[in-house]
Amino acid sequence: MEEYTIDDLKNMGISAETRGGLPVICIRNDYAETKISSYGAHVLSYIPKGEKDLLWISGKSWWEQGKPIRGGIPVCWPWFGSAGAPAHGIARISNWKLDSARPEADGSTTLEFALDADNMYSLDARLTVNAGAELSVSLRTSNRGFKPFTLSEALHTYFSISDIANVKVCGLEYDDLPDEARPFPGFRNGELYFEQETDLVCQPGKKILVVEDSGWNRKIRIQRTGSHSAVVWNPWIAKSRRMEDFGDEEYRSMLCVEAANAREGSRVLIPGSVHTVGTRISLI
Ligand code: BG6
Repeated sequence: MEEYTIDDLKNMGISAETRGGLPVICIRNDYAETKISSYGAHVLSYIPKGEKDLLWISGKSWWEQGKPIRGGIPVCWPWFGSAGAPAHGIARISNWKLDSARPEADGSTTLEFALDADNMYSLDARLTVNAGAELSVSLRTSNRGFKPFTLSEALHTYFSISDIANVKVCGLEYDDLPDEARPFPGFRNGELYFEQETDLVCQPGKKILVVEDSGWNRKIRIQRTGSHSAVVWNPWIAKSRRMEDFGDEEYRSMLCVEAANAREGSRVLIPGSVHTVGTRISLI
């Protein structure tokens, strides 16, 4: 990282704290208060001025090295789910380097984190977070090795909601749902409702999804870039009880909508090539 003094960072509205055993960077600017841990390059919280947090964190999350944080935006990389071990890849349990911090002309703030290709996959990752009127997160992967790599990934965003009974996701088409999930009882008239465990790796053509929450009277817009897949996940009752780092009733207050490249949406990176996936989150 460029050398910054404490005063430089303070002038940029950036400060540092810890949560459990993990380092946390706080950004305060005219738009929002945003928290990110360099452990996992993990966005923890994004609170636009005068609003509630758009992101959710479990009250039972681990806050320790070697275990993923439950909530915020885990970076699933360089594979999604059980395409490899550990589940959802190594990025979310790795310490990233804060590479740069800068204020932008529009008053937003950008941080860049790097994970170097000293991993066994010869892949470099760079995560850029811009906190402003919207939260923009993008993940760039470069293949520095000599073999093609099949990349699957997700910006596994946990949204905070009033109650799962009040929420629907708009923007998906019936044909976007995975074959094995169709017909899906919660999918009606082009809208996805939550009445059971929902774990859908969709391949939507449209790049914008909206989470409508009638309880808080808010709509969250999610715009994906470089993303073939959108994952929608709520563990519902039985799975919540099985997860050690998740409260039994917490499925009511969260919903994951993830910008991803997964399953048939995975990307093949030939040596020397670069791919970027991104998500832009805002209230409408
Ligand atoms: C979702 C997957 O993206 O992540 C689910 O589709 C999975 O199958 C969930 O259960 C949470 O995964 P983890 O490893 O954080 O418990």
